[in-house]
Amino acid sequence: MKRIPLEYAILGVAVAATLAVVHPARAQGAAERTADQVKRGQYLVSTSACHDCHTPWKMGPKGPEPDMTRALSGHPENVAMPPPPKLEGPWVGAMAATMTAWAGPWGVSFTANLTPDPETGLGKWTKRNFIETIRTGRHMGRGREVLPPMPIAVYRNFTDADLEAIFSYLQSLPAIRNRVPEPLPPVDAVAAK
Ligand code: HEC
Repeated sequence: MKRIPLEYAILGVAVAATLAVVHPARAQGAAERTADQVKRGQYLVSTSACHDCHTPWKMGPKGPEPDMTRALSGHPENVAMPPPPKLEGPWVGAMAATMTAWAGPWGVSFTANLTPDPETGLGKWTKRNFIETIRTGRHMGRGREVLPPMPIAVYRNFTDADLEAIFSYLQSLPAIRNRVPEPLPPVDAVAAK
């Protein structure tokens, strides 16, 4: 057998690799994978209660329902909340009619804007930021703790593939500009200061 000079062999591998990268069928395969991911993410979001808390609720003809024109945009910036009611006895929490503001022993938390708006939503987040937030229960994996009632303890059981699919779906949503307020400390903590 004739020996192929090493240089030619390397060139051959390089050309094959280049063709593999730019081959249209391959590119289409990647696009399909992404489309499948987005579909799977939509399914997971719709079955994992994200809309219950991250989509503002409104009064509809059959009672309260999530306002899908503002899907997953978090606590509406124009809905200012008065101080939460004083809770006693076995009552430990209260929530807004929009389902986007929650009072409890942790203070008041406001649900985040999950749409891809770069300034007020997850537009600048990477898949990694998202996965690390859910895995660690800390903002982007290293910031402040994510407060209740965000069900971190439940969602950290998602696989990486599930979380990637959820993130791909969230990034495919129309971006909604809505700046969610920072959480408020517990009333007792404020009084003690
Ligand atoms: C029971 C209510 C509830 C449900 C259900 C819920 N969330 Fe949240 N989520 C919250 C609240 C409240 C916050 C804000 C917490 C804070 O400010 O610390 C939040 C924050 C977040 C954040 C932002 C974290 C950060 O550090 O900026 C992400 C991302 C998120 N939720 C994703 C999701 C996804 C995806 C789902 C569905 C799989 C979901 N949430 C379901 C209540 C909820």
